[in-house]
Amino acid sequence: MPGGSGFWAQRVLITAASAAICPAGLDPVQAGALPVAGLTAYQSLEALGLTRGQRLLITNGGGATGVLALQIAAARGIEVTVTASASAAERLRGLGALEVVDYHDSDWAGRVRGGFDGALIAAGGTAQAALSLVRDGGRLVSLTSDAPAAERGITATDLYVRPDAAQLAHLAEAVVEGKLKQNVEALPLNEGPAAFARVSAGQAGGKKIVLT
Ligand SMILES: NC(=O)c1ccc[n+]([C@@H]2O[C@H](COP(=O)([O-])OP(=O)(O)OC[C@H]3O[C@@H](n4cnc5c(N)ncnc54)[C@H](OP(=O)(O)O)[C@@H]3O)[C@@H](O)[C@H]2O)c1
Repeated sequence: MPGGSGFWAQRVLITAASAAICPAGLDPVQAGALPVAGLTAYQSLEALGLTRGQRLLITNGGGATGVLALQIAAARGIEVTVTASASAAERLRGLGALEVVDYHDSDWAGRVRGGFDGALIAAGGTAQAALSLVRDGGRLVSLTSDAPAAERGITATDLYVRPDAAQLAHLAEAVVEGKLKQNVEALPLNEGPAAFARVSAGQAGGKKIVLT
């Protein structure tokens, strides 16, 4: 329905199983940024099933999802290599990446030691190169709907995030406790169209933009 300010107010109905209570101390902007990226990262790691000491490759480890997957994996003792821009390398090492490879290098895959136990694809067009770096019998999970045909006993699947209240509550607590750091930018609602254009053009720099 039209609101007095000229914006359209909307109501969204969701089931209780899809929502979590925002914990005290969680900034609403951080809370708004968390569900899709956080649940996707968490569910990807569940699907990969890696354990302490195993090696994970994340393509686009600096994006909104990849950076959360990186932190969750590193906290579990998984050794994480990410692809990202060189300018993001220091930040991502600080968040737990053992190695950061510049995706602008057309031979990035040739610069990485293979034999990964798992790969998480968070950049379109990187699945085939990542697959070649996964060991026989390893796992690949793609967020970009381009999981390659299985080879060498590797399990390769597409993943689509699903709501999960318990997982979301767990992730929200991790943000409050400072164990999960997001790259978030808050903008006023009237800057929504410009923000959308930035995101569509891939110029959001891996930030989640939350309109307030
Ligand atoms: N299947 C699902 O349920 C699901 C859920 C969430 C997201 N997704 C998908 O997952 C993908 C990532 O989404 P996101 O929101 O996490 O990312 P994002 O924050 O939108 O990622 C943007 C960043 O990607 C980096 N980038 C661009 N091309 C790259 C490449 N070839 N290799 C490495 N990094 C690259 C850019 O870095 P620079 O700025 O430094 O150049 C850019 O800042 C999208 O395709 C999205 O649609 C799927």
